[in-house]
Amino acid sequence: MQPFQYWLKTEICFGAGSESKTAALVRKHGGRRILVVYGGGSCVRSGLLGRICEQLQAENLTYETFGGVQPNPRLAHAELGVQKALAMDADLILAVGGGSVIDTAKAIAHGKANPGTPLWSFWSGAQPVTRSLPVGVVLTIPAAGSETSDSAVLTNEALQSKRGLSTDFNRPAFAVLDPCLAATLPPYQAACGVTDILMHTLDRYFNPVPGNETSDALAEALLRVVLANGKKVVADPADCHAMSEIMWCGSLSHNGLTGLGGRKDFAVHQLGHALSAKYDVAHGASLSAVWRAWAQFVADQDGYARFARFARNVWGIQEEDDEVAAQAAIARQVQYFRELGVPVSLPELGFGVLDDGALDHLTELCSYGNTRTIGSFRVLTADDMRTIYAAANGADCGRKKHVICSDSRLRHRRQRRGGGSDGQPGTVDPKAGSGAPVKVYSGYPGISRQSFRGPDYS
Ligand code: NZQ
Ligand code: ZN
Repeated sequence: MQPFQYWLKTEICFGAGSESKTAALVRKHGGRRILVVYGGGSCVRSGLLGRICEQLQAENLTYETFGGVQPNPRLAHAELGVQKALAMDADLILAVGGGSVIDTAKAIAHGKANPGTPLWSFWSGAQPVTRSLPVGVVLTIPAAGSETSDSAVLTNEALQSKRGLSTDFNRPAFAVLDPCLAATLPPYQAACGVTDILMHTLDRYFNPVPGNETSDALAEALLRVVLANGKKVVADPADCHAMSEIMWCGSLSHNGLTGLGGRKDFAVHQLGHALSAKYDVAHGASLSAVWRAWAQFVADQDGYARFARFARNVWGIQEEDDEVAAQAAIARQVQYFRELGVPVSLPELGFGVLDDGALDHLTELCSYGNTRTIGSFRVLTADDMRTIYAAANGADCGRKKHVICSDSRLRHRRQRRGGGSDGQPGTVDPKAGSGAPVKVYSGYPGISRQSFRGPDYS
């Protein structure tokens, strides 16, 4: 093993029924005036939010609620949450939801503890986080791993920028992981979650530092468990056994454990964040849409040996030749994504084939205006990012006929068809334009030329 430093402070309460321990955990971690943060209403409809509020009342804790967090959570909404936390003098922020809600709760915690400091200054790197409030989590979707991670990801709509912030202040004080709470997930959202969990592991597994056998073996075991149970939870999110495995893997995949001693790659995440910033697509879908193109690109750069290990130890592919094994593993992984029902190319995100201008803009967003490289397994320049986006943009997805799509045309299509990060796939709705409900595309205006502030591992 290579040297590492690891601090995982989150108390975890895992298993069916653990939801009932929430208020006691809040009290244990010092919460007396609680801001309860939630999303677009799934936890209201399931009754979870009501049950949590009853528990807080029964513990004689003061609380207020703050809902409306959107997937790919917005900076402006988090700022509203900070105002509410300040007004009630909150001393603990309780997230009831998934990654978007948890990341908003983390942002509110930082903002409440640092009144007067613009929130984005933490995400832009202008200010380090030196204090915050405790955050508690009741997880409703296994996916982002934010319940134990040191990351939080926000979208600044004005800058059309989606960025992660990594700091130990982002580690929640406690996390309630009750797999039964994910039973109401729509299949597409469950599939995006499984994809994200795989990718948090792969984005660490593919790294340039040799000699971390324990981390590699943990990663391979985790990948095998997720592959075995992922399709089960998409088929039936109420399958509590499969969901419990996926939920625990979700936390382990992003709390740092599977990458200890290595150097995170996370290039696929960065390529995906630019896609979500520009097109507001679900996070997991943004990753699967570029993974094949990334994998092929880096495997071809002297990367067959590592992919061959992945082939043998994760996929059980018994090929002696490294290149053949590597190609087989990439094909099997892509096929798995297809079976989950997530996109494996940019056109499958639902916008058709992107034109050159859109690819250039994605490259600019991902490279922070050509001021940074991404990745560690293979370091990718802006030109490399452009090549990968172009490869992912190939019409080779075999599902539907594609048309070239410019930005303005894309916006128009989205206005007509909906689709995005809200749990719905961005695939073509055949009923669109003929009386189907219309969703308004909230594309982010503005440009993005920003200074490099260091690696972003979220
Ligand atoms: O908003 P509600 O109504 O709750 O619905 C949500 C939302 O539409 C729905 N959902 C969640 N639990 C549900 C449910 N629907 C029915 N039943 C349930 N039990 O799922 C939709 C997506 O929720 P979201 O929180 O956005 O999902 P996820 O957990 O995948 O989080 C994605 C966000 O986390 C960031 C992503 O970039 C994205 O912004 N990430 C955060 C990381 C971190 N902090 O460490 C790391 C990740 O790599 C990722 O970047
Ligand atoms: Zn992720």
